[in-house]
Amino acid sequence: MSTTGDSDTIAQTEVETPASTSTNRRQPYGQGFLDTISEGWAERPDTPSPARAQAAYTAARRDAVSSAFPGRRLVIPAGELKQRSNDTDYPFRAHSAFSHLTGWASDAEPGSVLVFDPREGGDGHDVTLYFRERADRTTAEFYSDASIGEFWIGPRPALGGVAADLGVPTAHVDDFESREGDVVLDEDDELTRFVSELRLVKDAYEIAQMKLAVDVTARGFDDIVAHLPAIVAHPRGERIVEGVFHQRARSDGNAVGYDTIAASGPHACYLHWTRNDGAVVPGDLILIDAGAEVDSLYTADITRTLPVSGRFTDIQRRIYETVREAADAAFAAAKPGVMFRSIHEAAMQVIATRVAEWGLLPVTAAEALDADKGGQHRRYMVHGTSHHLGIDVHDCAQARRDMYYDGALEPGMVFTIEPGLYFQIDDLTVPEEYRGIGVRIEDDILMTADGPVNLSAGIPRTADEVEAWIARLSA
Ligand code: GLY
Ligand code: MN
Ligand code: MN
Repeated sequence: MSTTGDSDTIAQTEVETPASTSTNRRQPYGQGFLDTISEGWAERPDTPSPARAQAAYTAARRDAVSSAFPGRRLVIPAGELKQRSNDTDYPFRAHSAFSHLTGWASDAEPGSVLVFDPREGGDGHDVTLYFRERADRTTAEFYSDASIGEFWIGPRPALGGVAADLGVPTAHVDDFESREGDVVLDEDDELTRFVSELRLVKDAYEIAQMKLAVDVTARGFDDIVAHLPAIVAHPRGERIVEGVFHQRARSDGNAVGYDTIAASGPHACYLHWTRNDGAVVPGDLILIDAGAEVDSLYTADITRTLPVSGRFTDIQRRIYETVREAADAAFAAAKPGVMFRSIHEAAMQVIATRVAEWGLLPVTAAEALDADKGGQHRRYMVHGTSHHLGIDVHDCAQARRDMYYDGALEPGMVFTIEPGLYFQIDDLTVPEEYRGIGVRIEDDILMTADGPVNLSAGIPRTADEVEAWIARLSA
């Protein structure tokens, strides 16, 4: 990212060409422009606003970090813009831990840094959020810097406004200095692990945001079902699915939380099919794995598998309802105090039992379920059944195994349950009628003291409900 310092006023400095910008189409600014561009603008007072709803929660999170690292100076960068090509960048997304600790999310500034300075005497930390505030209109940055100038990208924040919004003292990023001994996120394993584990149990604000993300996602799935005729009519119907969902995610949320998987027919067996360039053919199933992320960056992660023609065939229904049986068994196994891995084990019990009954295994279900010598059923479901969900679709990825897979479920945890069955088009171990069928059902679960709550239960999920949904919205 090119930057232009505060002292770079129009009067003092020739405008530099930002490093990433080609010069072959730049037009020099005439003196008349330079003489007048900084004048004639209305005042824009930096009026502090009331703190955002998340401010009380982020303060508690920062207190937890401070207590865990007494006397240490902690540096948590938001990250920088990433170049896509030439002078275009990917949309900026702050580091998830930075957003979690500041509450600054979809509108966070690239290059910001959250710093915990230990107080003299070892009693806690002073926390400061450094960022490049908007440039004064007497500077060249304002009108000539295409990556951060307000003339180009629109209004940018001031120090006072952000401090009031987030409830954190702020300073200009030029005043930030790294020091010997700094504990830096992503460089220091202990800090990286701590802030990842800090997100395992969601607070009330986070749970409300997760519900919002699920609501937007539910509307996006309704949109897809309503567009099924147009989807089938297009030679790249999978792209229409992706586009229809994307429109809802952008209009009602911030973005998609991950690349949408729109996998029709045999594509459903490719677990991360995001090319989405296939036709959507009546008679096939289409597996759609999509999640909207809201402005706070919390995302849903939901999968539904639909019969394109509106009705499941017998074999499709048998496979679909077995996946649902596995999902329901996993849900029933999820209770506070139970190991996270029990969810997967419950789903696997159903999957192994059914595929053995169908004659697809060279061993018994019990033999397949043997932890050391078995696993034959995993050919048809190689992925896990659950992961934590939050600001990241695969949340808490740096948490220790004994806090995650081998840890106990606690109220406030949010995770997926997403069993599937996938019979590849060229898998000779299954009868022909199974080949090319892939089914996954994925729901977002909140654990409470009273047991699990399926946040996405409102999106039709039994075979009968799915057929009625299609009849209702796309007839
Ligand atoms: N959409 C990625 C996953 O389900 O984990
Ligand atoms: Mn998932
Ligand atoms: Mn998913």
